[in-house]
Parts: sequence; C-alpha cells; structure tokens
Amino acid sequence: MNLNSVFSERFGGAPSFSLRSPGRVNLIGEHVDYNDGFVLPIAVSMQTDLCVRARDDNRVVLYSPLFDSQLEFSLDDLTKQNAWIDYAQAVASVWQNEGLETRGFEGVVSSDVPLASGLSSSASFEVAVALAFLQLTGQQKSRADIALLCQRAENQFIGVNSGIMDQMAVIACQKDHALLLDCRDLNLRQVPFVLKDHCLVVIDSAAPRELASSAYNERRMQCEQGLALLQKWYPEAKSLRDISPDQFALHSKELPEVVGRRIAHVVGEIARTLEAVAALEAGDLAKFGRKMNESHASLRDLYGVTSMELDFLTDWARKQPGVLGSRMTGAGFGGCTVTLIERDKAGDFIERLKRDYEVATNRHARGWVCEAEAGAEILSSENNP
Ligand code: GLA
Repeated sequence: MNLNSVFSERFGGAPSFSLRSPGRVNLIGEHVDYNDGFVLPIAVSMQTDLCVRARDDNRVVLYSPLFDSQLEFSLDDLTKQNAWIDYAQAVASVWQNEGLETRGFEGVVSSDVPLASGLSSSASFEVAVALAFLQLTGQQKSRADIALLCQRAENQFIGVNSGIMDQMAVIACQKDHALLLDCRDLNLRQVPFVLKDHCLVVIDSAAPRELASSAYNERRMQCEQGLALLQKWYPEAKSLRDISPDQFALHSKELPEVVGRRIAHVVGEIARTLEAVAALEAGDLAKFGRKMNESHASLRDLYGVTSMELDFLTDWARKQPGVLGSRMTGAGFGGCTVTLIERDKAGDFIERLKRDYEVATNRHARGWVCEAEAGAEILSSENNP
C-alpha cells in the first residue's frame, strides 16, 4: 500500500516525512527485563509505517487504512478513547508531562505487525509517534530516552506495567544483529545474527490473549514479593538479577510455592540468556536451540505464561526435521512462537504446521521467515530529502 497516495486522497497534498518502526521477536530472555536481566530481541520486517504533515492547530488526526478508521485528539485534552489512537495519546501525554514540545499533525498509519501477538505492535506504534514528535519539533533524544519515554507511555497511560525490552528493541536493533540488552543500565551489544543455512520462523497462534495484562502485572508482583523475601538472606540484592540460581536454590523451599516457581524461572532465564549468547557467538546454533527449548519449558512449568496453543506449536515444531529449537516469544498467554530451523525446510514446515494446527485447534496460524532488520527510522523528509 502506498501511504503517500492514501495521505493525499485523505488530506490533500503530500506528507512532509515518513518513517518506519518495526515489531520485534525476542529470541531468549523472557520476563526478565523488569528484573534487571538480559534480553536478546531482533527487529523484524513486520512494521508500522507512518507518514506525517504538521498542522497549524493542536490536533493529531490519524487515518488507519487497516481499520478504515480516522480518529483524532486534541493535544489540550488527552482523555482516553479506548481505541487504537490511545497509543498516540499515551506518547503525547508523556511528552507533555516531561515538558517536551508536541505539535499537531495529520498522518496515515499502517502496520503489518500482528496485533496483540507478542511482536510488540504497541511499542512499534508508540516509537513511531515519538519519532514523529521529535521530527516535527526539531528536538533530539537518545535512543534510550525515546525507549524510556515510550515505556512510560505504556505504563502510565495504557496501564500495562511492561519492562523496557520492547521499546528498546524497536528503536535500537540493527540489521543483521540481535540486540543483547542489559535491562539494568541499558547497555547494549549488537550480536551479529546472520544465519546462512538456518533461519527463524515466527508463527502466530491466532489465539486471543485474554487477561494478558492483568496476568502480566500479577507476575511482576510475584517477582517483587519473591525479591523482598530473598532480601532477608541477600540484603544487598537490588533485583532478582543479583541472585544467582545457586543462591536461590539454597532458600527456594522457604518461599511460597508459586512465588518460588516464578523466581526459579527468572534466575534461570537470566543465566540461560547469557549462555545462549555465548553459544551464538561461538557459532553453536544447536546449543542455542537447546536454550530456546529450555526457556519455553521454564515459561510453561515455572512461570505459567504459555498456553495450550503455544505448547502445541513448540512441541510439534521440535519433532520436525531440521528444527534446532522452538519457544514462545513475548509476554505469552497466546501470541507467537519462534523456531530455529534449517532454511531449506522452513517453507514446508510452515505449510504442514498450519494444517496440523488447524486440525488440533480449529485455528488458522500464520507463519513468516524472519531476518534481523533495522530499528525505527525516519525514511524521507522534505528538509532532508
Ligand atoms: C512484554 C513486555 C516486555 C517483556 C515481555 C516478556 O512484551 O512489554 O517488557 O516483559 O513481555 O519478556
């Protein structure tokens, strides 16, 4: 779809700039970002596209061809509308709370990131709006600041107490690299990620993520509860990152059973993510795949965030020729899986999976081969053609 022509039909004339903002797939390091752990996402080719032109009034007017819906709000009245434009309002609201300049604009927004499926469709939209405000007002912000502002938008306005991974992945990923992010200090390392004979397949289970945000917030609370209890023995621990699996094992029996399982996942997953990165850097993809499998098992048995569909998809995947590992990605409770597989087997894998999945669940899965793409960027601008 050519957004510029949609723009000119809708608003007349041409947009003054356009930008792209990708979704992300997390390869490993799940539910650890809000525990100061390490995560390893890549940006994917599914993305939010936005083209924009400044307005003379204080309104933001957005048209979505996907929903065939035009919505707007005034920068002087950021009341939630319980609609997709809330993500833009969320960013505007944080911008204003931080004393940053906003500006009215009109634009066309489109996205092929599957919605609410664990590929960060919301972070992708938030970062797109943030870049639009920066471009419109000539302000500059570091990538970490943009991510932190967008995370605040999600936490405060949308009401999901999410960590920093998604927004950082969307803004800071680089093509052909996975992003090793230390969520404690936002230090990042670009880990080369070009798979020659292998590739990643992302499968959308098409299962709705009901109650996902309340279950997500509950997991966070259980982590805080576990940390507070463990601080009795480890008073210097500022977060679960500071407690090793061995240290945890010494006292795991003294925690309430459910909290103990949640913490076991977190401390194990933080260690596992670093082991997986070491395997990747050593070129040991088989080991990397095993770490993906272990991560899924831990999310299923200890953290309790998988679903019947995600377990079916990953179990099924592991039995197929050429598969090195398979796991859910993102918050869970539905959404997507990611599978590491020999490249020449991927097409057939997706087709057979769709058939077997439909027989088992009556749902229509979708699948994509994904490479590591670049993070969000302004594509064209009249000031900077
Ligand atoms: C969601 C959140 C992230 C992260 C993941 C789980 O995507 O937005 O901050 O916590 O879940 O790893």
